[in-house]
Amino acid sequence: MGKGNHKHSRQITEWRFNPVKWVEDIFGDEIVKLRNAAGMRTLTKSGLTLQQEDVLRRWGKFLEAKYRVNKKLSFTDEQEALSKKIGFSIMSSNGNGKDFLLALINWHFMATCPYARCMVTANTGKQLKSVYWSELAKIRSLARKMEGASENLLQSLFTMQNDVMYANLEKEERGKRWFTEAVTINVKSTPDEQGEALAGRHEDWMAIFVDEAAGVPDAVFKPIERTLTGLVNVCFLIFNPTKNTGFAIETHTKYQDKWECIHWDALSCENIQASQP
Ligand SMILES: Nc1ncnc2c1ncn2[C@@H]1O[C@H](COP(=O)(O)OP(=O)(O)OP(=O)(O)O)[C@@H](O)[C@H]1O
Ligand SMILES: [Mg+2]
Repeated sequence: MGKGNHKHSRQITEWRFNPVKWVEDIFGDEIVKLRNAAGMRTLTKSGLTLQQEDVLRRWGKFLEAKYRVNKKLSFTDEQEALSKKIGFSIMSSNGNGKDFLLALINWHFMATCPYARCMVTANTGKQLKSVYWSELAKIRSLARKMEGASENLLQSLFTMQNDVMYANLEKEERGKRWFTEAVTINVKSTPDEQGEALAGRHEDWMAIFVDEAAGVPDAVFKPIERTLTGLVNVCFLIFNPTKNTGFAIETHTKYQDKWECIHWDALSCENIQASQP
């Protein structure tokens, strides 16, 4: 490995466990500009809300804890406890930037974790495609371009299609490894079939992202803990509390010890105007 490559891989490792720095470096002031154009208040250098930055920091710590403990490197008691958790669960009311954050986290995982494998699902195919996938595309286009370049880093390193995005590897591996797939759940299928949707995949760096998790059938979540057994395997749910039973809400109650539970209060979000109903 040449000197340049070494420096490059050190930079990627730094970004992997410091995702706020990754956002600042990759997006520059593009997110801030977008907010200014929309008349949104910005309190951070990255352009994220304080709530989004806080979760992103915890996300970096979480990845590092799993990595250090499972690789049997030195680790603290706090890291050991964190490494046993399944992942993150954010519950919040409308419009304070959950999808934007999740899509950003999806890009961070793809851009900084070798041979990353991600699966994304949502309550409906429409939510998955019209909301989540379009946030992924929006974020991709927000990465800053180096002077004179026709594409930004995310555009040149990854290909985005309708239900998959993948790293531009050599031909024989392209699209077969290092990718994010959109998985649509068939609500008419049996619970057993739904339980297959996210099961049976394995990779060292693997993430399952679930949008509007309160509307996803419980059967889909059943195999998650069994599936996420690799080096750094993690699940990330976001949802509006549209109902008070089911797996999503139970991540904040019955199973709260296994999750990093986050409850965002709409009134403390800079995206929401105080006068908004
Ligand atoms: N930090 C940010 N900077 C710029 N735009 C943002 C930011 N966070 C969110 N947005 C934009 O604000 C809008 C609402 O955000 P988003 O859809 O992520 O919220 P949500 O919490 O998922 O909403 P809902 O509760 O309706 O599902 C989107 O257009 C999104 O791109
Ligand atoms: Mg949303």
